[in-house]
Amino acid sequence: MTTPLQAVVEAVQTSRKYQAIDPGLVAAVAGVELGKGRSHKEAVKATKNQLHQSAAVYQSGRMAYDRWLDEFHDAWPDESARRPLLRQVMSAHSSTNERLPILDDFYTRIFALLPPIHSVLDIACGLNPLALPWMPLAPDASYLAVDIFMDQVAFLNGFFQLADVAGRAETRNVLTDCPTVPVDLALILKTIPCLEQMEKDAGRRLLDEVQARHLVISFPSRSLGGRQKGMASTYSARFAELTSGWDAKVTRLDFSNELVFVVERG
Ligand SMILES: C[S@@+](CC[C@H](N)C(=O)[O-])C[C@H]1O[C@@H](n2cnc3c(N)ncnc32)[C@H](O)[C@@H]1O
Repeated sequence: MTTPLQAVVEAVQTSRKYQAIDPGLVAAVAGVELGKGRSHKEAVKATKNQLHQSAAVYQSGRMAYDRWLDEFHDAWPDESARRPLLRQVMSAHSSTNERLPILDDFYTRIFALLPPIHSVLDIACGLNPLALPWMPLAPDASYLAVDIFMDQVAFLNGFFQLADVAGRAETRNVLTDCPTVPVDLALILKTIPCLEQMEKDAGRRLLDEVQARHLVISFPSRSLGGRQKGMASTYSARFAELTSGWDAKVTRLDFSNELVFVVERG
């Protein structure tokens, strides 16, 4: 017999927009909504709403993963064609799209503050792994990327293979299943506010779990609509709260639409 929880999960998954989301996360969100005493219909609506706000909102409609992989295969032999194509595909996710105007500077300034990096964990990665050619990593570097969309993860694995990168993408809900493998660098880009929409203390738990000597933690400093609304000061206060008491060296970098903290833990 189908339980009320399974019924809500199945109803949410009939919608193409949410079909590829990690079923464990869908069930966790649905469970919380049913726990509030909502009806089936209300719980389906509230679950979709939460998954939209924290994940689907960043994607620009249909993500053409198969076509993009074909285009990568065609373009890859011509080195000069790679970066323009990667930029084009990164524009399909609003987080990487917002970074495109600053991308040429972004990783150059960040990596100038870091020692050689041999392993990276990219948490709630979106399409950021496509920016690998902009990251001056050590030649033998490994890259682990996690997010909640199964189709996006398969696409990123296809990209890693094509680009001959020692990379792996995994479908993971980092609220309950954050990788704890030790790495040189953890990228936690524009992710903490998104996770804290779902669980108030998610940022603190995530930072407790991640095993990295260096962390790059960023926050949007303009809203998706382009307004500023004091975001940089709100998020720098949140960062200070989350890292208070840390034995760490912190460097702040202010980009035009992203506030970045480069952290070296003691
Ligand atoms: C604001 S975007 C940031 C994407 C990327 N880090 C960047 O800056 O380009 C937030 C990302 O978090 C992912 N996400 C949301 N909830 C998650 C969860 N519970 N576990 C893992 N990833 C999650 C979304 O799918 C989305 O790709």
